[in-house]
Amino acid sequence: MRRVLFLAITLILILAVNLAAKVGGGDVTMKNSFGNTVFSHDIHTQKNLSCQSCHPEPYLTAEKHQAITMKQMEQGKSCGLCHDGKQAFTVKGSCNVCHKR
Ligand code: HEC
Ligand code: HEC
Ligand code: HEC
Repeated sequence: MRRVLFLAITLILILAVNLAAKVGGGDVTMKNSFGNTVFSHDIHTQKNLSCQSCHPEPYLTAEKHQAITMKQMEQGKSCGLCHDGKQAFTVKGSCNVCHKR
């Protein structure tokens, strides 16, 4: 009986730790002149995107971040790879969905 109880508690603890852990790289803030954007790993991995769809191309880590412009995004770079109005909402609009001002 004691052993069963111990196992149950251990299992619950492991589950709780996993739920609390951030997914992938967690939330990543990108600073820019228009109002910072927060990229959420949580939301993106829930959309059935594998890590490989974004790593190691086009992204490495926040530390190695190379800022690009909206114009480059409209041409399919970075967020624009998917936010093209087909796979996901376009970078040509919905400014406030990504930018918090
Ligand atoms: C839709 C794109 C996307 C997907 C899918 C994705 N990532 Fe990321 N990841 C990013 C972006 C964007 C950054 C930030 C890179 C930057 O600032 O240039 C990042 C950064 C990271 C970092 C570094 C965090 C930091 O603070 O430097 C880790 C670790 C990471 N991702 C792991 C993962 C893992 C593991 C998965 C799969 C579960 C995953 N990522 C899926 C886009 C993605
Ligand atoms: C899908 C998310 C997304 C949408 C939608 C979006 N942006 Fe951005 N924007 C970003 C990210 C991320 C950066 C920072 C890029 C980097 O650091 O590489 C950025 C950077 C910028 C910059 C600084 C770079 C530059 O191009 O001068 C401006 C200005 C900007 N956005 C304006 C806008 C406007 C205006 C809109 C709406 C028409 C918009 N953005 C829509 C994600 C988005
Ligand atoms: C590999 C494809 C991919 C890349 C790269 C990508 N996204 Fe997304 N993103 C998606 C998909 C798919 C959705 C869900 C469909 C939709 O909302 O149109 C989404 C949804 C979002 C949402 C809406 C979240 C919500 O509230 O439901 C935001 C904000 C967002 N992305 C920001 C970004 C930013 C900022 C970047 C670049 C740093 C980025 N995404 C790069 C595929 C991508």
